[in-house]
Parts: sequence; structure tokens; C-alpha cells
Amino acid sequence: MNRILFVCLGNICRSPLAHGVAEQLVNKKNLEIFIDSAGTSDWHMGEAPCEYSIKIADQYNIDINQQQSRPITKKDITLFKHVVAMDKQNKADLEAFGFDNVHLMGDFGNFQGEDVPDPYFFDGFEGFEHVYNMLALCVEDFITKVENGSL
Ligand code: 4NP
Repeated sequence: MNRILFVCLGNICRSPLAHGVAEQLVNKKNLEIFIDSAGTSDWHMGEAPCEYSIKIADQYNIDINQQQSRPITKKDITLFKHVVAMDKQNKADLEAFGFDNVHLMGDFGNFQGEDVPDPYFFDGFEGFEHVYNMLALCVEDFITKVENGSL
């Protein structure tokens, strides 16, 4: 089975949302793709996604309540065909860890390599709405490219 891993720093804001958006799309399209997410840090290990990620996901009928933050592992390197980093720092950290199949989320959906901004450091809910809108476009483009074999 094709496996895709979405990665950010804490695995509580951006990548859990990307994970949920991708899962909803894969289910809608009936694709045989396994989706997971992880963090480059273990700072929030075992925690549920942050409140605002849960809230914005819920507004689009995506339930990410059951997700639990976990750090990347060496096993992930062989398990996942594609790894998608939320920003350039995440990508550099993943490559330093040993991953050689790392994509940048902002290279999809016409964002010219823009980082998915870290909403953890923004005030309020607005940052999360922006992150959701960006992820919805990037994830759709990415999954379409996986589906049609161009990745
Ligand atoms: P994420 O956001 O990488 O999108 O999950 C963050 C969550 C927590 C921290 C940084 C970013 N932190 O510094 O604890």
C-alpha cells in the first residue's frame, strides 16, 4: 500500500490537520493510501491536536480528536513512500534524520514553495483558517499527483 507521512515540528497543529484533510480526500476518492503524521520533535508526545486545529477540522467535517502526537522514527524512513514537510526547517530536519523522499507542502497547489506558517505562534483562530485553506489546496494537488503516478 502507498503510505504518506505529514510532518511538522510539534505534530499538534499543522500536520494533524494535513493528516485529517488527506484522510478525508482519500476516503472520498476510495484510494488505497495510508495516511499518518508525526513531529520532528517529541515535545508534545501523546497529546491530542491543539484546540484550534480540532475546531477548524470539525468545521469541514473532519474528526482529528483521536490523533496523538508522536515523533518521527527511523522505521518511518522505510515505511513511508512519501514524506511531506510543512516548512523548510522541517524538511531540513527530516533530511538530517535520514529521510530521502521529503516533499515541501508549499511546492504544491501553486504556493511557490511557501512555508505552511506555524499557527502555534499566531494569535487566535484566524491563522488556523489560513492554514486550513492552504492545506486544502496543497493536499488535493499532492494526492492527485500521487494518484496519477507523477510523484
Ligand atoms: P506544529 O506547531 O509544528 O504545527 O504542531 C507547533 C506546536 C508546538 C510548538 C511549535 C510548533 N512548540 O514550540 O511547542
